[in-house]
Amino acid sequence: MPEIAYYQDSFVDLHAKVVPIQERAHQFGDGIYEVIRVYQGRLFMMQDHLQRLQRSADAIDLELPYSLEEIESICKQGLERSELMDAEIYLQISRGIYTRQHYYPDPPCAAFAMTIKQARVIPDEKRIKGVNVMTMEDERWKNCYIKSLNLLPNVMAKQKALQNGCEEAIFQEAGTVKEGSSSNLFAVKAGILYTYPALKGILHGITRKVVLELANELDIPVEETAFSIDFLYDADELFLTSTNMEIMPIRQVDEHILSAERPYSDKLIEQFQKLI
Ligand code: PDD
Repeated sequence: MPEIAYYQDSFVDLHAKVVPIQERAHQFGDGIYEVIRVYQGRLFMMQDHLQRLQRSADAIDLELPYSLEEIESICKQGLERSELMDAEIYLQISRGIYTRQHYYPDPPCAAFAMTIKQARVIPDEKRIKGVNVMTMEDERWKNCYIKSLNLLPNVMAKQKALQNGCEEAIFQEAGTVKEGSSSNLFAVKAGILYTYPALKGILHGITRKVVLELANELDIPVEETAFSIDFLYDADELFLTSTNMEIMPIRQVDEHILSAERPYSDKLIEQFQKLI
């Protein structure tokens, strides 16, 4: 049973039709999620994912249906059942099942869902080549630090990027570059690593955090600061980070092609590989 799912209190077949029509996840996008990577049978950065889940829940006034320890235990049970060594765990917690109305359910409730699938493997050639990205207006809300289920602007931006031969859309707001539609963004300029600060306007990526720690170990100076599109176009190196992409170099942003020499990205990728 390689790919499995869990809904409310039981393990279910991944393709089982278990979600009630009045679940607020699909009626309102009223919920939060996490994506966690498993390497060699072990949950990667699990405590950080659980803490971010708790922060997202608190931010939307949602009481988690299980404790963080219980959630970790469900993940581990699922992983054991799946027998997968390199997996991707998706956790989703919504504000439960209730008559469709905008007010929160009273009394409060929540619905827990999880899937465990084989991790998508990124071919080495792709990481060597790097990906193309395009900048786009950030049309999302002001609380992107919450890992909310409302991903319509992200989905639309990613699709537009795909239609333009790009792997990722880079959100910019009034000329300031923020993050990708499903990733964080880093720039290297004159030996300094730049990324947008962990404020409310971006997701505080766990991979972003790992990269900042690795940069510190490697004595690479870091500036968590907002930068402009002009700065982006002028960067020596650019890369994306996320749980599924890990560290992904950028080859081209809009019309600007970057050098294939990426000493800083290469060093960080190497350290990241060692860590996982
Ligand atoms: N996306 N920014 C956004 C908007 C994201 O959706 C993600 C992750 C990240 C990177 O965060 P992390 O390093 O914790 O994965 C940044 C996940 C993987 C997704 O939606 O599938």
